[in-house]
Amino acid sequence: MCGIVGAIAERNVVPILLEGLRRLEYRGYDSAGVALLDGQGNLQRTRRIGKVKELADALQDNPIKGVTGIAHTRWATHGGVTEANAHPHFSSERIAVVHNGIIENYESLRTDLTTKGYGFTSDTDTETIAHQVHFELDNCDDLLTAVQNAVKKFHGAYGTVILDKNDPDRVIVARSGSPLVIGLGLGENFIASDQMALFPVTRRFMFLEEGDVAEITRTSIKVFDSAGLPVEREVKESNLEHDAGDKAGYRHYMLKEIHEQPTVIRNTLSGRLQDNGISANIFGHGADELLAKIKHVQIIACGTSYHSGMTARYWLEQYANVSCNVEIASEFRYRKSYVHPNSLIVTISQSGETADTLAALRLAKEQGYAASLTICNVPGSSLVRESDLAFMTLAGAEIGVASTKAFTTQLTGFLMLTMALGKHNNMSQDDHQHIIKALHSLPAKLEETLQLTDGIKALAEEFADMHHSLFLGRGDQYPIAMEGALKLKEISYIHAEAYASGELKHGPLALIDDEMPVIVVAPNNELLEKLKSNVEEVRARGGIMYVFADKEANFKSDETMRVINVPHCESAIAPIVYTLPLQLLSYYVAVIKGTDVDQPRNLAKSVTVE
Ligand code: M6R
Repeated sequence: MCGIVGAIAERNVVPILLEGLRRLEYRGYDSAGVALLDGQGNLQRTRRIGKVKELADALQDNPIKGVTGIAHTRWATHGGVTEANAHPHFSSERIAVVHNGIIENYESLRTDLTTKGYGFTSDTDTETIAHQVHFELDNCDDLLTAVQNAVKKFHGAYGTVILDKNDPDRVIVARSGSPLVIGLGLGENFIASDQMALFPVTRRFMFLEEGDVAEITRTSIKVFDSAGLPVEREVKESNLEHDAGDKAGYRHYMLKEIHEQPTVIRNTLSGRLQDNGISANIFGHGADELLAKIKHVQIIACGTSYHSGMTARYWLEQYANVSCNVEIASEFRYRKSYVHPNSLIVTISQSGETADTLAALRLAKEQGYAASLTICNVPGSSLVRESDLAFMTLAGAEIGVASTKAFTTQLTGFLMLTMALGKHNNMSQDDHQHIIKALHSLPAKLEETLQLTDGIKALAEEFADMHHSLFLGRGDQYPIAMEGALKLKEISYIHAEAYASGELKHGPLALIDDEMPVIVVAPNNELLEKLKSNVEEVRARGGIMYVFADKEANFKSDETMRVINVPHCESAIAPIVYTLPLQLLSYYVAVIKGTDVDQPRNLAKSVTVE
């Protein structure tokens, strides 16, 4: 969460910082700020509440320039959304700091620094970094050493960039628990919390590792590990194709990303799915040997990624004959869990940087799992680097805070993992052929499903005045109902809950009345008749039904039920196909309600704090 950009150059870096912030705004948009050092050693700062545009407007009205600068877009954790709490934070108009993460022991540091005479002007944990570095600097007179000494005092997570007005030819960066990448230029260098921020200026990146502190000048980069020893970090050329700066004519990134799904799933399958199956090495070098011994899968993830894990459990147990548990990462990381023999730990994440998922993986690695695998969308991210195996979803950059194409590409990866594990666990030939056929048909099926847009737009009109809603599904459609509910609440702010429809009569049926829309996902599968009974239970109590159903499921529209027919598909891919209409419904409801679709209130794309 929060976005960081920094630059040290010979030209004015303001346009670079602003463009970087725009590209990072998805990580937080409560406030934005910039601090600049000009060639004469002046340190200036502009901060604004709200989005990057507010900052850009302020800089246009009152321009400031600098050849070295740091900038930040904030997702508030400690301290409310005020200009005083916006980054960069200063210590005595000399040290300037931007920070992602949380300094957990900030209260005791603050007390200590206050006793030492440092005056605080914000409620943030970040301001302690500025003052602590300043304090250390007074004792050692070297910015790099000061930062190395300061970080030893911090508990928690930080990706931070620090400027000293009296030392204008270098910036110091430090990383622990929050990602930072250095972008290499010619006679200039850059820093960001996500490489995408720097695509307009470079494609060459050095990814810092946990505990690294680096000194960056215009022409050099020196990296030191957590023990303070000089280390080399590889420079990588980024070949990420998707330049997220572009909405490609769509009104919102979310809509663009919904429509990209046939293409990105085609990309995710391409070269990996053959006519007769998959090769296990699509999960990484040596995957086949590692997967051969797996008898149990433990999945950990958050949010939408957790829903993809929930769906995968149905597939892994039904088709691959391996037992599977799925748990929310923030729960997993704080309890003692049982490790089954020959278990694979699987993390799922669009960003690869979600703090709870990463912490859960690190814990699991100490607990004796046979191997770790991540299903992830960001190459070089922490989860990819720290897992034994990785399946890269090729969704391209996902900018809308509401996850769409990342989810469906994760599910696509899981179907391939089901085949890879099933191969070693007596998966039937019929099931194997069924999944291959289903995956081959998937991109075209999704294209067909997107044709439902007009009908869904009309449906969305009926939702705009609703305050609550219920999503129902059974079997592998239950997690899809959960995902549908999450999408609706996330971007339209309509309260939405999901239930396995067999659970209705155990409580939620009491909620049903004519102001409670009930959304049902109903493919034509072995649970259809059970689902139909649940639908009748709702109808009998006056509920208004919106049913996304296979044509052959024989639901008929009438005054209490609106039916949208979803193209018939193979059962293995039905969870993926039925996701799209629910995404479209949420999107059009949010548009009608006029919410900020791509950047819904209180949220951020990449949750790198606990
Ligand atoms: O990057 P991750 O997939 O690890 O993120 C997990 C969740 O924060 C994320 O899926 C979140 O729930 C989405 N905003 C939902 O649309």
